[in-house]
Amino acid sequence: MIQLSERLLAMEESATIAMAKKSRELKSQGKDVISLSLGEPDFHTPAFIKAAAVEALDQNYTTYTPVPGYDDLRESIAHKFKRDNNLTYAKDQIVVSTGAKQSIANLVLSLINPGDEVIIPAPYWVSYLEIVKVAEGVPVVISAGIDKDFKITGADLEAAITPRTKLFMFSTPCNPTGSVYTKAELQDLARVLAKYPQVVAMSDEIYEHINFVGKHESLAQFPEIYNQVVTVNGVSKAWAMTGWRLGYIGAPKEIAAACDKVQGQFTSATCSITQRATIAAMNADPIVLKDMIAAFESRRNLVLNGLNNIPGLKVNQPGGAFYVFPDCSAYFGKSFNGQMIHNSDDLCMYLLEVALVACVGGAAFGDPNCFRISYAASEETLQKAVDRISNALAQLQ
Ligand SMILES: Cc1ncc(COP(=O)(O)O)c(C=O)c1O
Repeated sequence: MIQLSERLLAMEESATIAMAKKSRELKSQGKDVISLSLGEPDFHTPAFIKAAAVEALDQNYTTYTPVPGYDDLRESIAHKFKRDNNLTYAKDQIVVSTGAKQSIANLVLSLINPGDEVIIPAPYWVSYLEIVKVAEGVPVVISAGIDKDFKITGADLEAAITPRTKLFMFSTPCNPTGSVYTKAELQDLARVLAKYPQVVAMSDEIYEHINFVGKHESLAQFPEIYNQVVTVNGVSKAWAMTGWRLGYIGAPKEIAAACDKVQGQFTSATCSITQRATIAAMNADPIVLKDMIAAFESRRNLVLNGLNNIPGLKVNQPGGAFYVFPDCSAYFGKSFNGQMIHNSDDLCMYLLEVALVACVGGAAFGDPNCFRISYAASEETLQKAVDRISNALAQLQ
């Protein structure tokens, strides 16, 4: 009999992928399901990036590449960091990977010994916790509820730091809440981190361009902690390149070298064609994204308007990304046809079955009172989804 590893058995299946699977099943039975469960833009990759990929194929960029990415790709990423974030990273501080997901896994495997503590503010992106568990680290979760706009303060961070703390991981703009840390809020975290130079901070900024509140702020901008911060980014979200698989880090040299070493044994590097195409994305002025960002903002407003009119839902106003994370706890204890709602996972199952709208329960993100709606869909679809959610919730007694 095959015996799977304890490491694998302790790992949760990704809740977002599980929900997508379930809604595909219902769709295949002919049900008109609206899927708002995946973190994927509904735009296509811009034509100039696709053209760069075609050119790369024609030029036979089809062999293994340097493990941390082509030199000229890393130079273009260094240029992007300077242009957009005023961060200075040399080429050997940059490692390109098979999605930001692998960038994060490389980092955690490079730093974490069994028993090391990793501070993760909740709500968090689902994979942070599971990757830390695989590395036999101990996740230390700090909860920041909707009343704090789902953000932690320097004092919250400091209260969680112990002599075993090795890493702090967070995202801004945040998946699943869309919350965006201001410069002052990041400065407050930096003030605390500077007191603990042994703690590395991972700042996941993959949604940087999908920001409705102004300029994106990076944690690494504060010189007193620059040498402790690993900035994670990638092309999946802003450039609508989820399937191409490219993420990258800007990091202290020794951390970049460690991630390069891990990657050399696991994947060698990401796809050569993707790397060539990404040079075009990195060199483009982000102003070309303005129509997409405006579309996301308008969709956000539509969804917020709809949700704010549903009694019992408590809704945050996300400043970025393409998610809303409403608190639905007022519905716990209610039921429909004998089906009782105990938590947001039950509520999402109810919404899938009765409203035919797929969302994701908050437990996987560390907040079972809330659920995530991804508004990467057309306004017409979103309006239909909000109406269906509203009708279904009205039936709960
Ligand atoms: C916060 C966050 N970080 C990282 C990723 C991973 O992105 P990718 O591996 O597609 O680059 C995602 C994708 O959903 C995300 O939401």
